[in-house]
Amino acid sequence: MYLKHLELSNFRNYRSLKLELKPGLNIFVGKNAQGKTNLLESICFLSQGSSYRTSDIKEAILWTNDLAIIRGGAKNKDRKIFVEVFLPRRGRRKVRLNGSYLNRISDLWGNLIVVIFSPQDLDIVRSSPVFRRQFLDRILNNTNPEYIYHFKRYQKILSQRNSLLKLFHQKNRIRKFLDTLNLWNRLLATSGSFIMMERISLLSILNSFANKVINKFLSGEKLILFYDTPISIKKKNDRKDLETSMLKKLKERQKRDISVGATTIGPHRDDIEMTLEQKDIRSYGSGGQQRMVAISLKFAELGFYNEKLGQRPILLLDEVLSELDEDRRKSLLEISQDEDQAVITSTHYPEWLEDEKAKASVYIVENGKIKAW
Ligand SMILES: Nc1ncnc2c1ncn2[C@@H]1O[C@H](COP(=O)(O)OP(=O)(O)OP(=O)(O)O)[C@@H](O)[C@H]1O
Ligand SMILES: [Mg+2]
Repeated sequence: MYLKHLELSNFRNYRSLKLELKPGLNIFVGKNAQGKTNLLESICFLSQGSSYRTSDIKEAILWTNDLAIIRGGAKNKDRKIFVEVFLPRRGRRKVRLNGSYLNRISDLWGNLIVVIFSPQDLDIVRSSPVFRRQFLDRILNNTNPEYIYHFKRYQKILSQRNSLLKLFHQKNRIRKFLDTLNLWNRLLATSGSFIMMERISLLSILNSFANKVINKFLSGEKLILFYDTPISIKKKNDRKDLETSMLKKLKERQKRDISVGATTIGPHRDDIEMTLEQKDIRSYGSGGQQRMVAISLKFAELGFYNEKLGQRPILLLDEVLSELDEDRRKSLLEISQDEDQAVITSTHYPEWLEDEKAKASVYIVENGKIKAW
């Protein structure tokens, strides 16, 4: 899949932009604060209807304006997609797909798929578990409508269970309290087991894709991704079994949950363990190794979409080139060149482009305007 046409109106520092893009490598070169990241963010809006940088859409509207519009036309093997995202200063955002307004933003997901790697994505490797869970959830939400259903349902039940736990001090109603708690436990375990099962099977696919990529950067080092949960898993693909284990753990933790007023086990607390050559990369990896693992995870995400949906997503790389040494920069550009389309930002003209194998379209970004190099 590739983005053919992009149009921005009052989006961040772009007052008005019309851009034609080509398949293959598209490199956007510009000094700091010219609009490179803003450009990638606009493409993410076309994919998700939201931004990975902010949840407040007002931030994305050019200072004093009332409405930002992002339009994009993409081409897939067998179809064309046209997405329009309207971000008003007041009121709700609207999304139109091939001319029809969507009822829910989530109806857009899975149409124009992008995989972005930006400096924040290092958090997947080195920060708290929430970033690792989000990494898995986003992929599953993009590819599995049943996951979206259970994911939303789980959040709702979890918040109701937590509210109930906080009411325990009303001891005169203990019988009723326990009945309701048991009900929430059962509902939580049905969606919770689904979420865990899907995440575990995704992780094993990502693991094999990530290792293929990692070998191009770090010779021969083996990465192992492991789903880390206190809930005992005997059979990975047996949902009933997972559900029973989760119910059992919820019961075991009941006292603790009541005393802290929160649910202390479940997929909302799980993590991914990552080891490179048997060492925990989260705490022992060098900055460069962590970056290579994070990038490999993103390429693995891409491989997964390709396998699951039969189409290669658009790859967006923000500010990665400057952080890598010469050899790895070259490897990264070479493997990106094989994608349907990669959009890459850089503060410098990549000297790799002098290489005879290199094929790329290069643009200059300057103060909210873009022209060909
Ligand atoms: N809502 C907005 N309206 C107008 N300008 C904005 C808005 N939001 C951000 N900007 C400006 O857009 C400019 C470009 O930001 P962007 O993050 O795209 O820079 P960049 O080219 O990626 O720079 P760097 O190389 O430093 O990452 C910044 O000067 C920023 O202040
Ligand atoms: Mg930037």
